[in-house]
Amino acid sequence: MIRQCVHPVLVGAALLAGAFSLGTTHAQAAGMPNMAPKEVVVKRGISAEASKCIECHAQKTPGIIEAWKQGKMGHANITCYDCHVVDKNSPMASQCSGIKGSKTFISPMVSSKTCGRCHPTEVKQFQQSAHADLARIAVYDKNKAGGKLVALQLHHEGGGFMGVEEGSAANGASRQSGCQVCHGSEVKVGPDNKPLAGTWPAGVGTKYPDGSVGNCTVCHTRHQFSVAEARKPEACASCHLGPDHPNIEIYLESKHGQIYQTQGEEWNWDAAPDTWQPGDYTAPTCAVCHMSGIGELETTHNVEERLHWDLMHKRSEVRSGIHGDGEKGRENMRKVCLNCHGPSHTATQEKTVDDAVALYNEYWDRAVTMKKDLKARGLLKDDAWRDGFQELMYFLWHHTGRRARQGAAMNAPDYAHWHGFFQVFQVFKDMEDIYNWRIKTNSIEELSTVMSTGPE
Ligand code: HEC
Ligand code: HEC
Ligand code: HEC
Ligand code: HEC
Ligand code: HEC
Ligand code: HEC
Ligand code: HEC
Ligand code: HEC
Repeated sequence: MIRQCVHPVLVGAALLAGAFSLGTTHAQAAGMPNMAPKEVVVKRGISAEASKCIECHAQKTPGIIEAWKQGKMGHANITCYDCHVVDKNSPMASQCSGIKGSKTFISPMVSSKTCGRCHPTEVKQFQQSAHADLARIAVYDKNKAGGKLVALQLHHEGGGFMGVEEGSAANGASRQSGCQVCHGSEVKVGPDNKPLAGTWPAGVGTKYPDGSVGNCTVCHTRHQFSVAEARKPEACASCHLGPDHPNIEIYLESKHGQIYQTQGEEWNWDAAPDTWQPGDYTAPTCAVCHMSGIGELETTHNVEERLHWDLMHKRSEVRSGIHGDGEKGRENMRKVCLNCHGPSHTATQEKTVDDAVALYNEYWDRAVTMKKDLKARGLLKDDAWRDGFQELMYFLWHHTGRRARQGAAMNAPDYAHWHGFFQVFQVFKDMEDIYNWRIKTNSIEELSTVMSTGPE
């Protein structure tokens, strides 16, 4: 399939071999059998109007032009005009000083819908993944987790509990500087159609005023939009890190990460899409296991396609419904490993993950039993964040329990053990002590015994 990427303004317009035309240097991977479906060919120059954006912005925002020139799309003459010009009636339409009074309207916001004109497959796959709606909804939906997540951001972190006005700018500060930067926001615009502070720019599942969802720059930063960058683990690390999902830390401590850190500089990061295969690299990165084409698997922008377990929620289940197809996911991930490992090695590793999940679920189920009992006896505080038992239960799941499961799944013994199961049992025993004390005294201790930010 050869995609036709023709922007409306260029249809029928005289194409100039613009002064900024850098030629089409698309790395044609001649002879690569699985290259054809992903091939994108655009042979064109730059229209006079698009050249104006570039000429002026080379003076006004040289950093943007320099980055753009270095990217493949810059080389293919995909310009500011293609991505930033919007219809006059668009809810995002405004004009910069350089085009004031003209018939051209632009927006500083660029959603995945724009990319979808030329990259429909990538956008469609992305939309089906948890990186789109699910990611944003996780921090906005009042129905999700009974409104507890919205309460966490605004009532607790945002100081609502101590009187910071709910809905005020200060109240939203923790959400906008934290959750939204990773998960995405709902972009709101002012009377001038420009984005309102605190709603833009934002993370992967951002919803734009034109109704479309997705910020592709989280992995392919502007204005290079590099595939090489997205293939490196650093592209995922801005979000997949920290005490609750330390994926980059886990990766760097795994054997795969060891090889990446010692040999990665010599790898061939620039292979054409779907032709990046073992040999270009000797150990997998995040992208290799979760996204890139390898062997018989094609590149996917749906990160669920290769997953079996749900390793983030309170109890791990095999994936189904909106979280993917766990059986298929395991088959797909297995196909990744078998490019470089034998069947015994791969089967051993699958069993390791399954066993870790079984052990974690055991702890979790017992914690749930204790909690139900306390609830039935009226021995839980309404405010979970002032109740030691409930706070610890959060850490059991959200921090230590995820580290144990994800460390085991991605081959990081220190995370699986010291930051994982070792702390799982400690947290659990503390919960047991609180439980026993409450049952014995038929009362709730006055001060939360959990005085820290939880287990590191
Ligand atoms: C392939 C599409 C594409 C091209 C080509 C492109 N941009 Fe962008 N630009 C984006 C995306 C995506 C964003 C991020 C928007 C968001 O987060 O909503 C962006 C953001 C911006 C912003 C706002 C963010 C900031 O840092 O201020 C400016 C200004 C901008 N681009 C100018 C330009 C100029 C000038 C050109 C021409 C050299 C250009 N862009 C070319 C896609 C593009
Ligand atoms: C003659 C100079 C000039 C021309 C031509 C020009 N711009 Fe601009 N542009 C500017 C300046 C200066 C700014 C800074 C904000 C302002 O002055 O409006 C800007 C801002 C922008 C922004 C950011 C707006 C924001 O709200 O942050 C985008 C996006 C943009 N221009 C895109 C374009 C596109 C696309 C074209 C071509 C259709 C273009 N510009 C043509 C000078 C120009
Ligand atoms: C008008 C058509 C068009 C639009 C709109 C467009 N692209 Fe592209 N894109 C292309 C073409 C053509 C290529 C191939 C360039 C080449 O390899 O010669 C490409 C290549 C790419 C690549 C591969 C770069 C590499 O290093 O190999 C990425 C990533 C990409 N685009 C992302 C985006 C994103 C993100 C957006 C939206 C913000 C977008 N594109 C919008 C036409 C477009
Ligand atoms: C540093 C980036 C980052 C920040 C900040 C962040 N998250 Fe997340 N969040 C993630 C990632 C990555 C995952 C996926 C975790 C996994 O796979 O284990 C996630 C998972 C989640 C989930 C589970 C997904 C689901 O659909 O049920 C929820 C809910 C969630 N986060 C809510 C929040 C809230 C609320 C905040 C702010 C109080 C927040 N997050 C802050 C990156 C972040
Ligand atoms: C989670 C990170 C991530 C996000 C988000 C992301 N990409 Fe990619 N993208 C990648 C990786 C990794 C590759 C390289 C695949 C490979 O090895 O060939 C890639 C490759 C591409 C390519 C090259 C052709 C191909 O399919 O391999 C295009 C075009 C592209 N992305 C467009 C987009 C668009 C459009 C969006 C937004 C809808 C987007 N990407 C969002 C990680 C991402
Ligand atoms: C801008 C932040 C951000 C970046 C960058 C990012 N992710 Fe994510 N990722 C998230 C969030 C948020 C979630 C949780 C989505 C949800 O609500 O289920 C997530 C979820 C996932 C999941 C689990 C999906 C599921 O269905 O549960 C995988 C796998 C994943 N990301 C892989 C990657 C890989 C690989 C990269 C880099 C190539 C990457 N991510 C880059 C924010 C990000
Ligand atoms: C060797 C292949 C491999 C590499 C490299 C790898 N992962 Fe994973 N990842 C897996 C496997 C296997 C699982 C668990 C699959 C299953 O059984 O569901 C997993 C699970 C995940 C999950 C958990 C999804 C959930 O259920 O909550 C996230 C998020 C994730 N990986 C992100 C990343 C990121 C980010 C990187 C790089 C920093 C990375 N992975 C590197 C193989 C890999
Ligand atoms: C691109 C090749 C490649 C892929 C794909 C790959 N690995 Fe590896 N893996 C390696 C190399 C090389 C080593 C280092 C072997 C050594 O320590 O000598 C390694 C080491 C490991 C180790 C450490 C134990 C050992 O053998 O020393 C585990 C566990 C592992 N891989 C599991 C997996 C799993 C599970 C997958 C699929 C989800 C996978 N690998 C995918 C290349 C790969």
